[in-house]
Amino acid sequence: MEQQLHFFIGKGGVGKSTTSAVTSVHLSNASMDTLLVSMDPAHSQRDIFMMDFSKTPKKIGRHLAVIEIDEAYWIEKYLKETQDQIKKTYRYESAFNLENYFDVLKFSPGLEEYALLLAFENIIHTFSDKEIIVFDMAPTALTLRFFSMPVITLIWLEELLSLRKKIYDKKEIVSKIKIGKKEIEKDPVKSKLERLIQNHQNLKELFMSKASIVNLVMNNDTLSFSESVRIKKRLTDIGIQVDRIVVNKFLNTDIAEDIEKEFENQKIVRFPFSSNGLIGFRAINEYIDANREIVMGLSG
Ligand SMILES: Nc1ncnc2c1ncn2[C@@H]1O[C@H](COP(=O)(O)OP(=O)(O)OP(=O)(O)O)[C@@H](O)[C@H]1O
Ligand SMILES: [Mg+2]
Repeated sequence: MEQQLHFFIGKGGVGKSTTSAVTSVHLSNASMDTLLVSMDPAHSQRDIFMMDFSKTPKKIGRHLAVIEIDEAYWIEKYLKETQDQIKKTYRYESAFNLENYFDVLKFSPGLEEYALLLAFENIIHTFSDKEIIVFDMAPTALTLRFFSMPVITLIWLEELLSLRKKIYDKKEIVSKIKIGKKEIEKDPVKSKLERLIQNHQNLKELFMSKASIVNLVMNNDTLSFSESVRIKKRLTDIGIQVDRIVVNKFLNTDIAEDIEKEFENQKIVRFPFSSNGLIGFRAINEYIDANREIVMGLSG
């Protein structure tokens, strides 16, 4: 089976962490090798399973492991690499006060989502053998920035690459005049830019591919509905399809007509409210047993 990536996204508090935990337990019960990844720095999975998790995967079932993204580590790593790159690029320009520049780098916009993207890339490379990877995502704003990151970065990189090419062509003309027809060495910056473009292109395509299943979690209420409409629109604008709507904490009242109308192209899964709460492995398994047919809607 081709690897499936299940993303659980949506407004704060609608039940992304709970529904991703239920889905992970359900799929691993069906003998699928599953990794549940806590991508939200708030890391609710420890409270749901009442266990400690960390950046190394913890096996909690025959086919289930849980891992937490260490956001601080990825921010630190990104900053360090950026600093090294700048130092290398400006090694002759001692006039610049680089240390001052480095001090403000950690406040640059986009840092958090970039760190998440690095963490995500690392997860999919490290765990390419898993059949299922379930991502418990942060609330709307950060997650939308995360998904937009490859698209936005590509716009920048392509612009930079074209500038670099222009500069390099001029340099080549000058050097040909100076040293004759001999080839000048390949531009390392251009190669780096090309590598980065390929990277982001792959991520963009992965998010758009059938392997990525986007579950938009909401509740049967006006506020989460309105936010979900906006989320769907933003994702559609960058070419990412919402596959399923999970109406969580569903009580036995009909869901509003406008929800069904707005999401007529999505599969709508109604996830009942559990008065027992959904904390601990046992409660989750009882919930799955009691709602077998509904939970089946979350696989495949
Ligand atoms: N189906 C359900 N039945 C009963 N309670 C639920 C259900 N789903 C979630 N809850 C409860 O709702 C609260 C919020 O759930 P959860 O933490 O999963 O949401 P979230 O969307 O991940 O929140 P955040 O945006 O903070 O990450 C928790 O107290 C959780 O136990
Ligand atoms: Mg959560």
